[in-house]
Amino acid sequence: MNVLEKRIVKDGIVKEGNVLKVDSFLNHQMDIKLFDEMGREFKKRFAGKPINKILTIEASGIGIACVVAQHFDVPVVFAKKSKSINLEGEMYVAEVESFTHKCKNNVIVAQKFLSPEDHVLIIDDFLANGCALQGLIQIVQSAGATVEGIGIAVEKGFQSGGRIIRNLGIQLESLAIVESMDAKTGEIIFREQQ
Ligand code: G4P
Ligand code: NA
Ligand code: NA
Repeated sequence: MNVLEKRIVKDGIVKEGNVLKVDSFLNHQMDIKLFDEMGREFKKRFAGKPINKILTIEASGIGIACVVAQHFDVPVVFAKKSKSINLEGEMYVAEVESFTHKCKNNVIVAQKFLSPEDHVLIIDDFLANGCALQGLIQIVQSAGATVEGIGIAVEKGFQSGGRIIRNLGIQLESLAIVESMDAKTGEIIFREQQ
């Protein structure tokens, strides 16, 4: 098990409905040393890629993206979620439907922060159905920029997002892939990675 997987076993809480709570170290209280380790690992996994920008989405992607960015020495842009269609200025917009929250949101990035010269690493905390991630991919494509890869902390391997994104031919690296989890026993099984 890697550092993140061990931490999930130690401090993660399996809730009913296949929800994994990791708010004591990942997406509410944040363990920055852990994020730093994750950044080091992403840097290794995406070695040789000409990444010049990291893109994430508010809220819980931002903290991880900022620490990861120190390993790549590049700026972070975060997409904003907005229900309103009253968008000022020049924006890239993708409509994202959330199965989890049963609603539609716009995901927006100002055009001045993404251009065809950009080689983007997308970072987020969770991958479940991957709707938000597909919105981010769409935004990068609208800008004429390149998605060099996607780095995720926790992928729920039993939901469809990971398969959909790998089928697009994008390098998707998830540091912990949960194959199954049991709210009764608290047991969590991870996918073997090399
Ligand atoms: P969706 O297509 O069903 O909406 O799935 P998606 O993968 O986009 O996940 C929806 C939201 O739920 C995301 O947060 C995601 O991080 C979160 N999520 C999904 N599964 C889990 C889980 O097992 N545990 C935890 N802690 N979060 C999970 P978000 O709404 O985009 O918001 P934010 O928290 O980043 O602000
Ligand atoms: Na998130
Ligand atoms: Na979240």
